[in-house]
Amino acid sequence: MTVTFTASRSIPKSLPVRAVLVTSESMADGLDGFSVKTLKQAGFSGGSGETYLSATETGCTLLVGLGPSERVDAAAVRTAGAKISKQLGRFRRVGVDLSAVPVDGETARQALAEGITLAGYRYRQFKSDVSSDKTRSTTLNAVTVGGGSGAKHQAALDRGAVLARGQSLARDLVNEPGGSLTPPVFARRAAAMARSQGLVAKVWDEAAIKRGKLGGLLGVNRGSSLPPRFVELTYNPKGRAQGTLALVGKGITFDSGGLSIKTGQGMMTMKCDMGGAAAVVGAMSVLGELGVGCRVKAFLPMTDNMLGGDATRPGDVLTIRNGKTIEVLNTDAEGRLILADALSLASEAKPDAIIDLATLTGACMVALGPKIAGLMGNNDSWIEQIESASTVSGERVWHLPLPDDYRKQFESPVADMKNIGTPHGGALTAGLILQEFVADGIPWAHLDIAGPAWSDSEEAEITKGGTGFGVRLLAELAQAFTPPS
Ligand code: BES
Ligand code: MN
Ligand code: ZN
Repeated sequence: MTVTFTASRSIPKSLPVRAVLVTSESMADGLDGFSVKTLKQAGFSGGSGETYLSATETGCTLLVGLGPSERVDAAAVRTAGAKISKQLGRFRRVGVDLSAVPVDGETARQALAEGITLAGYRYRQFKSDVSSDKTRSTTLNAVTVGGGSGAKHQAALDRGAVLARGQSLARDLVNEPGGSLTPPVFARRAAAMARSQGLVAKVWDEAAIKRGKLGGLLGVNRGSSLPPRFVELTYNPKGRAQGTLALVGKGITFDSGGLSIKTGQGMMTMKCDMGGAAAVVGAMSVLGELGVGCRVKAFLPMTDNMLGGDATRPGDVLTIRNGKTIEVLNTDAEGRLILADALSLASEAKPDAIIDLATLTGACMVALGPKIAGLMGNNDSWIEQIESASTVSGERVWHLPLPDDYRKQFESPVADMKNIGTPHGGALTAGLILQEFVADGIPWAHLDIAGPAWSDSEEAEITKGGTGFGVRLLAELAQAFTPPS
């Protein structure tokens, strides 16, 4: 169900269902139509996470607590939006009163639209009974936001809804099983999105991948019965482009580990291993509607990582697009092999900056847990742009180092490098290996999203399964892009 948001001066009297966002201070000042004493007795004091639902004959009001105003930010409003979706999602039309929210009106409206839309997301493709309570999507389809009907307020609501739509596309792609979203299907989905959004799409089939000498992608694909794909997407802005940004995404449609096979437990969520490519596709799908001013090129290598009879063997050597060779000692370290080709190709396009997103290492989850992405790169001002985009989007990242002396760890006696390092610091070795395939002088950053691309639990606007992490960050990054120095 898509939700339409309307900026309005006030919430019409004819709308009997409404939500009011409340800070601890606005509680103290008193709330129209409520006795603060009664609310407090019922356990509602405007604290963050608290809600209070009051239903009368004439209507129904949900109070959503935000906590003390100095701690209210966009994330708090996004979370409040999620509460509204969960508690009022069975209605069709809802009014929202933001008058007590202390953050900037546009930021609040965008976050509200994101929270309401994202929390209402359901993946129901493979459910036979979509009307059961557990799988039914919300029926909410119109939200009127009071406090201002101006064009800026409306634009902020639309922006939130558009970003949530891009993020939902990424979730859909991640949630689709690996046997269904095969590399050819994924490539077709990306190309179809491109057609509908006026982007240029180029899909390389297996023959083109061989001609292009994408030895990393071919090496990982060798154990599969399905052909690989390599997808290039280009967004050209209206008017003169303010630089070119390259997005690279890991597109392993299922990661069994290959001959270095994973455990059954370790494989259960491995349809998520194309979460980087999915985030890139989701972000590319909204650039036009956001009016992004730079050119954006996407490079997406796609294959599954299987263990057929002629699968890459530990000890095999692959030659990557840029001519460098890699000795594969662990076939489960496959992401870096396909990204090596993609980063080489992205470098050939001579963009002003590159960012790659990849569900790359369990080690990054050990370091940062399930919700924060690891950020690495070769250029501080580019890293800062990404940190700023992350602050705006609310998708958390943490800067990790790329220590030059750790490169020894992957020296190989037979090839230019091995595909693994020593047991500790695996997120960093992976980043250092990727760096070998970025041409000198190009600002590059790597986001390891192994943790946040997937969620085992529902929390605020995050639903179980694919999260679409990175879509909003990439969209914001493209919108604010200035070629780094
Ligand atoms: N796709 C995995 C990383 C991953 C693990 C993503 C868990 C999401 C959740 C990646 O291909 C992988 O298997 N990495 C190995 C690298 C190791 C063999 C050097 C890992 O992290 O164990
Ligand atoms: Mn793997
Ligand atoms: Zn993988």
